Amino acid sequence: MQAVYFEKFGGSEVLRVGEMPDPVCGSSQVLVEVKAASVNPVDYKIVAGEGLPLPLFGKFPRIPGSDFAGVVLETGRSVKHVSPGDRVYGVSTSFFGGPGSHAERLATNQRVVRRIPQGLSFETMSAIPVGALTALNGLRQCGNLSGKRILLTGASGGVGLFALQLAKNFGAHVTTICSAKNVALVKRLGSDDARDYANTPLTAFGRDFDIFFDAYGPTELKDAAKLIRAGGYYVTTLPRGAKIFKAVFGFAFHNPRVVMANLSIKKEGFETIEKLLVDKKIEVLISQKFSLAKAAEAYETLMKGGVPGKIIITL
Ligand SMILES: NC(=O)c1ccc[n+]([C@@H]2O[C@H](COP(=O)([O-])OP(=O)(O)OC[C@H]3O[C@@H](n4cnc5c(N)ncnc54)[C@H](OP(=O)(O)O)[C@@H]3O)[C@@H](O)[C@H]2O)c1
Repeated sequence: MQAVYFEKFGGSEVLRVGEMPDPVCGSSQVLVEVKAASVNPVDYKIVAGEGLPLPLFGKFPRIPGSDFAGVVLETGRSVKHVSPGDRVYGVSTSFFGGPGSHAERLATNQRVVRRIPQGLSFETMSAIPVGALTALNGLRQCGNLSGKRILLTGASGGVGLFALQLAKNFGAHVTTICSAKNVALVKRLGSDDARDYANTPLTAFGRDFDIFFDAYGPTELKDAAKLIRAGGYYVTTLPRGAKIFKAVFGFAFHNPRVVMANLSIKKEGFETIEKLLVDKKIEVLISQKFSLAKAAEAYETLMKGGVPGKIIITL
């Protein structure tokens, strides 16, 4: 099969597109013919060998890619919930060293494969798992959001656009921080107040928020803490150093409480997102599409930033 692969860690220059062995479907796996796959920062971080040690476990050559949507070709003996011919979507186990989704075919654990609800496209569903489930997991840990005031950074990104729309559906008041050109977009998707990060330092805000959802990531905890009311939460999609320590050991007594918004693969999470999509309560923004042959360009575009929503590879 044709696949994107890399044989050493690096930037987009280490990505190749070429022939790789066809995957074999294990007894608890689903073999999928991939039709669309989005590109997430975790994909270029795995290619770079960056971040937590888990992604370092895989063997070269490795196929990157997390999210996917496609058609079931074969199922393992123990798989009951999907059958050949079904339209499915999910997230690969590439973070744990498994094969990724930027390929014509993917054999992956049945636990991460869901049927696509009627009326939703491969492209839309390929843009869901990492962004939407991470945003949902972060918000869920902050309790009832009704009437809560949220400050959201990275609002126009892959996680941020879902966090914004989910928080609005859960009844929160959301102030967003994004680049100037995306202010109109986040307002259209429900943002109550939107500020351009180039002209609005965090010091422009007061201690007015119950939750600081940092989908951008590198914000200093001490700067965020100045904007969070007593008993509030700092949510990070980029848990590093002291933030991890405070989230794991200091949750109950640290002020603000620190929450790690990590990708969480749970049935309830998938069901919540699917229902909101079917009911047209949230929308998926796909800004750019690339062919598999142009995958390196897709990665470069995401790394450069400035593209709202998701970038996908179509096959
Ligand atoms: N822990 C996990 O399981 C998990 C899961 C998903 C994502 N993540 C991490 O979360 C981060 C965001 O992911 P993503 O998919 O949303 O990435 P993304 O699509 O690249 O979005 C990043 C966003 O940050 C914005 N941004 C850039 N500079 C900013 C600033 N100074 N202030 C506020 N916003 C700024 C960008 O806006 P412009 O492009 O307009 O500049 C963009 O909207 C990444 O580091 C990713 O690795 C972690």
